[in-house]
Amino acid sequence: MAAADLLQPAVKADPRLIVPLDFPTTEEARAAVVALGPAVSFYKVGLELFASDGMVLARDLKAQGKQVFLDWKLHDIPTTVQKAASVLAGSGCDFLTVHGEPQVMAAAVRGRGASSLKVLAVTVLTSLADADLEEMGYSEGARALVERRIHQAIAAGCDGVIASPHEAALARALGGRDFLVVTPGVRPDWSAKNDQARAATPLEALKAGASHIVCGRPITAANDPQAAALRITAEMAQAG
Ligand code: C5P
Repeated sequence: MAAADLLQPAVKADPRLIVPLDFPTTEEARAAVVALGPAVSFYKVGLELFASDGMVLARDLKAQGKQVFLDWKLHDIPTTVQKAASVLAGSGCDFLTVHGEPQVMAAAVRGRGASSLKVLAVTVLTSLADADLEEMGYSEGARALVERRIHQAIAAGCDGVIASPHEAALARALGGRDFLVVTPGVRPDWSAKNDQARAATPLEALKAGASHIVCGRPITAANDPQAAALRITAEMAQAG
């Protein structure tokens, strides 16, 4: 090892930080992974990449020793969800999202079987306001529906939920110590808010009960993505 390297603190990822690879092509996603290097160990692959070669990328990331969150938000008849979850479990990926309907959640849990794939429920999409839910036939409002669906996720055997920082404490209280509470809508106070109107900082999200945070553009759109990721992991370390 060169003398200069000995003076550098080792770059170490915080496994609670998940970086979404929200890019239209796998080439751009791969370039982001290279730029982040050892500073990030957990990536989210969502619908945009699913529409191209998302699963190829996911398998490659696993082969590189990264953790992979498949944000596919499955929603179909139980047989189809069960079969899809079973195939995805065989990829060795780590997290999978499904919509928070009882039939869908239970089918995904059956499908992943004894694999290590964790099933996370999307309770209520944060794009839906109370008025939108009313239009869809749900009269109880978003907060009450979120709470009901967290109870149902636990009953279905899900490993956790996706929750906004404002719902993280509720999910932690209902789910208990080992429940996964994965929180998007996170912004360090030094970064642009983009379209995340009610963002919390990484430290606030962890203190509210998040087990993992999803933070994208403050890292991927930074001039120095690795430095931005390390700044965030340093802030997260204050949560213990
Ligand atoms: O760049 P940014 O940190 O806003 O990315 C957040 C990621 O989390 C995106 O992939 C987005 O789709 C996802 N997400 C979110 N808000 C939710 C649920 C998911 O931003 N309520």
